[in-house]
Amino acid sequence: MCYIIKTFINHLLILTALPLSCSPLALLWLCLSQLPMSYMSCIFQLSPRRTDVLTVTPWLAPVVWEGTFDPMLIDAIYKPMNLTVAATVFAVGKYIMFLQGFLESAERHFLVGFRVHYHIFTDEPEKVPPLTLAAGRQIIVHKVHKLNRWQDISASRMQLIQKVIEDRVHREAIYMFCLDVDAKFYSRWGAEALELLVAQMHSWFYREQRHGFTYERNPASKAYIPNGEGDFYYAGALFGGSVGEVYKLAKMCHSHLEIDRANGIEALWQEESHLNWYLLHNKPSKVLSPEYMWDNKKGQPGEIKVIRFSQVPKNYKEVRENA
Ligand SMILES: *[C@@H]1O[C@H](CO)[C@@H](O)[C@H](O)[C@H]1NC(C)=O
Repeated sequence: MCYIIKTFINHLLILTALPLSCSPLALLWLCLSQLPMSYMSCIFQLSPRRTDVLTVTPWLAPVVWEGTFDPMLIDAIYKPMNLTVAATVFAVGKYIMFLQGFLESAERHFLVGFRVHYHIFTDEPEKVPPLTLAAGRQIIVHKVHKLNRWQDISASRMQLIQKVIEDRVHREAIYMFCLDVDAKFYSRWGAEALELLVAQMHSWFYREQRHGFTYERNPASKAYIPNGEGDFYYAGALFGGSVGEVYKLAKMCHSHLEIDRANGIEALWQEESHLNWYLLHNKPSKVLSPEYMWDNKKGQPGEIKVIRFSQVPKNYKEVRENA
């Protein structure tokens, strides 16, 4: 009983700390009448809300699934901070065809209500669609050379991310995400994803055992992960964190890609292999569930309650250079 009263008081304290100009009684009423039942049960006990999936890693980083967080509470915490989040997007070669769908859906679902700088890397700046963005959001176009092999395009991303942080992002943003362009947003992709170092469980491997992960297995590669090691298989299509952490990640992955190249080695999944090596040795402080970058080819299994962002089905032959 005492515990119930204590959590109830704690809860009230949290609520009254929010910048709402209401009396405690009004807040109590608000909290009892407006919030969903699942949230009301929290007043009496903060019980785990998802038991069907892993919600915390062995190093105590949260794994973000629908039902593990309260979006209203998250927004009430982060929105007053007036944060700027940078997003890098590579739309090189034929991938420019995905940019409009990406941006339009991002304006509906990606960090809505936050200041977002989209850094678009493309060889054809004139093809960036002219869109009207919400207040505080802007597109910054960077012209890059078209590389011939998609493997090289992938490998050069880390270098470009490193450079854009040095040039301006370190001054302009607090957090950043690096996102694949051939995908669309379908549902809230919000501030619950913010943390120092953020990575995502790959939608194809989140149910796999470690031995099934497609890590680089050549000991001569800088991306080498021996059998029996590894936490998750992380997606190369989505990573982020504080600008400082993303900088360290991009810099090291870039240097490892260069060392491999000098030795005539190309890791199995290029950048993604090096990212997985980095994240094994530098644990992410938050792990995103596959909801945050899904692949519709996998249908919608029961544990995926919401698809927030998903790859656009494509024919690799049509979009990849020299595939
Ligand atoms: C939010 O941040 C931007 C850019 O840093 C600044 O121009 C703006 O005045 C800030 N808004 C508030 C309400 O502090």
